[in-house]
Amino acid sequence: MVLAGKRILLIISGGIAAYKSLDLIRRLRERGASVRPVMTAGAQQFITPLAVGALAADHVFTDLFSRQDEQDVGHIRLARDCDLVLIAPATADLLAKMANGLADDLASTILLATDRPVLAAPAMNPKMWAHAATKRNVEMLRGDGIAFVGPMKGEMAESGETGAGRMAEPLEIVAAVEMRLHDGAKPLAGKKAIITSGPTHEPIDPVRYIANRSSGRQGHAIAAALAALGADVTLVSGPVTIPDPPGMRVIHVERADDMRDAVLAALPADIAVMVAAVADWKVASASDQKIKKHPGESLPTLALTENPDILKTVGHHTQRPKLVIGFAAETQDVESNARAKLERKGADIIVANDVSPATGIMGGTHNRVKIIRHGGVEQWPDLDKDDVAVRLAALIAEQFKQG
Ligand code: C5P
Repeated sequence: MVLAGKRILLIISGGIAAYKSLDLIRRLRERGASVRPVMTAGAQQFITPLAVGALAADHVFTDLFSRQDEQDVGHIRLARDCDLVLIAPATADLLAKMANGLADDLASTILLATDRPVLAAPAMNPKMWAHAATKRNVEMLRGDGIAFVGPMKGEMAESGETGAGRMAEPLEIVAAVEMRLHDGAKPLAGKKAIITSGPTHEPIDPVRYIANRSSGRQGHAIAAALAALGADVTLVSGPVTIPDPPGMRVIHVERADDMRDAVLAALPADIAVMVAAVADWKVASASDQKIKKHPGESLPTLALTENPDILKTVGHHTQRPKLVIGFAAETQDVESNARAKLERKGADIIVANDVSPATGIMGGTHNRVKIIRHGGVEQWPDLDKDDVAVRLAALIAEQFKQG
């Protein structure tokens, strides 16, 4: 487990994003960390110490002047007996206090007393995040060595306003914690990875195209997870509605032909993960003009021709990356089809999933995959696509560790 034995002091301050801290506690503990929670008075307006304590399996510290807590642990020990202080969510108010060295409650006092690394996940209204005062405070805090994760762009829970201010998702915070705790050691630093993601659009004419239901969520999450481990990532994305993940080169393409060209142009690389749901066929000769309806006449027929198989091309390329991973989206005989694909495409690993409509996987947020290699099969549990990505990135890092 990546965070085995690590002690995280989690400061939860008052914002609606506090509800995500419950999931964050679970994620941190799943990875072997212990979580000792501290809540501000504001945080307790949003979530209860009871829920936080139950998930953390620890006492929740809330009061600087609690005689009992001071006798048992004490705020100075709280500030020092941990490997990392994590603030999630970090409000504008708490950041302002930190920047100015104020210490009028337990959270701010700990933050002034600690000598441990501090990571903050800000969450606030976009106008508050963009305010000159907050900008000044964040700048000052960065100068003091405080690390930040997020905030992300997105719609605000309360007001529906958009802009940067949403707290980073729990898994992104976990990745930032891992990075911070491993002293910036990134197992995939110096490794180049090419990821394909999303569907392709194959034009019929200037306004119509052939497409599929791929959302790009899985491929984008894998690109982000590899970047978090230090890989130099090129993401070649088909048309999707999700945002570009930060910290990588993103090339947007429409057709399979363009996707292949972009992938080949990005070679050489150490890792290729071909997640895109590339259309198998394209229209043999797409029309330059919109195809018109002619009532009474026979319907147009579409002659199809095969698209290039990008995975197969990369798997057999003279500049073949050391590790080539493909996906197999099947609705029947998942495992035997994936095994055949491993051979045919020249891949080292096939991540196979059942995309029958009943599974809700295609376009959905979760995934249940089998990892198929020449040596054997591993069934992973039903996981969030982000978790599949984090696990796959860890598996990739493991391969490179073994040389
Ligand atoms: O043959 P099938 O489409 O099931 O193979 C799926 C795998 O091959 C995926 O990894 C997909 O990204 C890749 N693929 C590709 N180019 C194609 C078709 C599939 O890279 N034209």
